[in-house]
Amino acid sequence: MAKKLVVVATVSVLAAAGLLFAEANHKYVGIKKCSMCHKSESKGNQYGQWLSTKHAKAYETLATPAAQETGQKAGVTGNPQEAPQCLKCHITGYGQDASLFEAGFAKVDGVQCESCHGAGSDYMPIAVMKDKAKAIEAGLIMPAKEGCVKCHNSESPNFQGFDFDSYFKKIAHPRPKA
Ligand code: HEC
Ligand code: HEC
Ligand code: HEC
Ligand code: HEC
Repeated sequence: MAKKLVVVATVSVLAAAGLLFAEANHKYVGIKKCSMCHKSESKGNQYGQWLSTKHAKAYETLATPAAQETGQKAGVTGNPQEAPQCLKCHITGYGQDASLFEAGFAKVDGVQCESCHGAGSDYMPIAVMKDKAKAIEAGLIMPAKEGCVKCHNSESPNFQGFDFDSYFKKIAHPRPKA
């Protein structure tokens, strides 16, 4: 009995490690790469849409007086733009290994495409992108509410509550209907 339990536990640890490893292979390319193909009006200009949202300013926000105040209340002594307790939700891919960020990636771009859609190095080639199933296999995430609440939760010192439908409307970036 005990032996069987050990085997089961080992297998699940390996499975979890395998999953983490597979995810860790995808690299963050940065929003400039995504924007190359996602800024034409005829396809919905997802880049321009994103630029108009607060997600684009999430890192800049950490330099404001409001952020200083938030930081003090949350017990952050230094600059919020350097504080792990703030960066974890205000930039993309916080805490991932440095080797997973390509040269074009910039943290000043805040909550970028890849915060929600996953690290893009393997799905962004055009032949992959055009085939949704392949893109998903290569790491593309089409996020639902679960993808938002990793940041929109009560760990945020300024949490305003989260209602997916009304929040999604404010950041929606659809392709025009054919
Ligand atoms: C080389 C061009 C190119 C690059 C670079 C690119 N995409 Fe795409 N993407 C496409 C094309 C083409 C489609 C297919 C749909 C369309 O024509 O709009 C697509 C579709 C998508 C979709 C919708 C998937 C679906 O079928 O519903 C998402 C989400 C997406 N891209 C995100 C990204 C993100 C995030 C990046 C950057 C990491 C990125 N793309 C980079 C060309 C590109
Ligand atoms: C990586 C963390 C992260 C993820 C994931 C994330 N957000 Fe956000 N979101 C933020 C931060 C940080 C802000 C505040 C930015 C600022 O004010 O500078 C924000 C702000 C917003 C705002 C503006 C709220 C306002 O005060 O006007 C909306 C709307 C929003 N997010 C919707 C969403 C939705 C919908 C999703 C999921 C599809 C999502 N977010 C996923 C971090 C995230
Ligand atoms: C768990 C994720 C998370 C953490 C951690 C976090 N934030 Fe935020 N922050 C958000 C989200 C999401 C919003 C958008 C507010 C909302 O709609 O709930 C936001 C909004 C803000 C705003 C804008 C408030 C406004 O009224 O417009 C400031 C300033 C801010 N955060 C500063 C900080 C600072 C400073 C820290 C570190 C002490 C921090 N945040 C930590 C997720 C987070
Ligand atoms: C805050 C999270 C978030 C960010 C940031 C974000 N997206 Fe999305 N995106 C979503 C969600 C949620 C959907 C809808 C998913 C679905 O329909 O299943 C979506 C859908 C899309 C679609 C498909 C639209 C359609 O009509 O089929 C494309 C293309 C896309 N995103 C590209 C991008 C690009 C490019 C960026 C950066 C410029 C970006 N997204 C930034 C959450 C995000």
